[in-house]
Amino acid sequence: MSEDNPGLPNVEALQKLANELFLAKPGNFPPGGISYDLAKNQVPGDFNVQDPQTSLQDPHFADNVKIPSSVAGSGISPSAAQHGSIFNLNDPQTSLPDPHFADDGKIPSSVAGSGISPSLKKEIAEKDSLDIQYVSDSSFESGLADALKTLTSFVPVSQFPGGGMPNYNFTGGGSDASYYFLSGKNGLPGNMAGSTFDVNRYKSDFPILKEQVNGRPLIWLDNAATTQKPKQVIDRISYFYEHENSNIHRAAHDLAARATDAYEAARQKVQLFLNAASINEIVFVRGSTEAINLVAKSWGEENLKAGDEVIVSHLEHHANIVPWQQLIEKKGIVLRVIPVDEDGQIMLEEYAKLLGPKTKLVSFTQVSNALGTITPAKVMVEMAHQAGAKVLVDGAQAVSHMRADVRLLNCDWYVFSGHKVFGPTGIGVLYGKEALLNEMQPWQGGGNMIADVTFEHTRYQAAPARFEAGTGNIADAVGLGAAIDYVNKIGIDLIQQYEHYLLAYATRLLKGVPGLRLIGTAADKAGVLSFVLEGFRTEQVGSALNKDGIAVRSGHHCAQPILRRFGLESTVRPSLAFYNTCSDIDMLVSALYRLNK
Ligand code: ALA
Repeated sequence: MSEDNPGLPNVEALQKLANELFLAKPGNFPPGGISYDLAKNQVPGDFNVQDPQTSLQDPHFADNVKIPSSVAGSGISPSAAQHGSIFNLNDPQTSLPDPHFADDGKIPSSVAGSGISPSLKKEIAEKDSLDIQYVSDSSFESGLADALKTLTSFVPVSQFPGGGMPNYNFTGGGSDASYYFLSGKNGLPGNMAGSTFDVNRYKSDFPILKEQVNGRPLIWLDNAATTQKPKQVIDRISYFYEHENSNIHRAAHDLAARATDAYEAARQKVQLFLNAASINEIVFVRGSTEAINLVAKSWGEENLKAGDEVIVSHLEHHANIVPWQQLIEKKGIVLRVIPVDEDGQIMLEEYAKLLGPKTKLVSFTQVSNALGTITPAKVMVEMAHQAGAKVLVDGAQAVSHMRADVRLLNCDWYVFSGHKVFGPTGIGVLYGKEALLNEMQPWQGGGNMIADVTFEHTRYQAAPARFEAGTGNIADAVGLGAAIDYVNKIGIDLIQQYEHYLLAYATRLLKGVPGLRLIGTAADKAGVLSFVLEGFRTEQVGSALNKDGIAVRSGHHCAQPILRRFGLESTVRPSLAFYNTCSDIDMLVSALYRLNK
């Protein structure tokens, strides 16, 4: 604790810790290192709120709030911003004449205390109108120190030649920018070398993220429920209605051709996004729930009989439980459940025991919506196939965080929802292997799915048309195509790398909050931080966070069985997307400390 500023962390102590970490022998870092570079804005700037020279325009914070994001752990140092932003600390041509970066290669003072900087706390504490009183105690300090350790652990050994300051290569630019960088020269593998992750630029693509909620800038941490939409998607849908709107596949006029082209182009984007073998394997549906129901109602009803076994995991969303349960009542099938361990990880040895000659289908999630667990999907698919079962993978929570490759997974069906991947609601995808889709009977009859109709008999189209009865959600399919273009432009692998770092940062800080119990601590996780806070109901936490403009889901997340596995009926669930920043996490954590006071 600082003597000058009781209640605030001691900057010198944290700086010392940072120096120790950065100067540690390379052998102290994970062998081979995880291939990350330190994000530049993990370095809270040495920011002086009174000094107009050093203030930084950040679209995330409204003028009247005056919380510079750099201070909250999300910006480049203001002085760096002033000097332009393409610089390399080891390059005399581009290095900054910046007193914060010492010649001796030691960690600059601004690095100390990643997370909520003391100056931010002081600044905020002084602003009655903000009604924020940052609680600072030793556990918070050690939480910050822990987070700092996590960050340093991302820096590969190669970045510590002889110890000392890593060879940062900060790139990017723009006077209005405050950046996170995953700068690539040494930090990112293979095809990502030289890549830059410019989170604030991406964030500015999302109009809704400029909203104020309860007088605060919106911090959207409810991405597992739905993701926000970039301008590119919104504009694409508007363009469709302004220039292309028509029904599809049905007329010889120009607009029918435009609309059909746009819709089928979106299907092809999905095909490539999933690495499916053919465009015919992509069926547009309403979302993941409808896709699973389609398989249950079509393939399930036709192929499952009494005594056949369907295996799901304990992690499943209700959408991957209820449709199979309905077949218990209707057909007498048996539902079996793969257990998870205390960390929420699939117990593969137990799964192996469940598989047998009666197993006809294994249906499981790639990422748990409630815990964030990434399941070992490829292995699970292989095991199911060896037992002669078909496999459905629910990719709803995976597609925005990691590469979805249906041919690599070799699953029989794969489902996802457009709105979880920055696209519109009401549109989603069922992928199925082409031959299998063509063996399945349509589940709805009507226009466009027919080849020929008489009163005696109807012949159906081949997939995908056989499953797209009626006028579909044409405009939103086109919007989903635009969302995929958007994700591709950034690069899903880069998104995964960035989120991995953000998740680690958030996990470290949350672990330090007194009374907080994280639910779901799998080694392999994506973007979800479920927790309960001692002394508070989850909805109390949710609504307290909402007062600060922070949106999280609290409740059962439509996955009651997995929460009950941990003795709970509900959790608070912040969930991440690539447009979230360390600053968002800092705000979340500080609000929790305040609640705890
Ligand atoms: N399935 C969505 C969620 O997890 C709605 O919140």
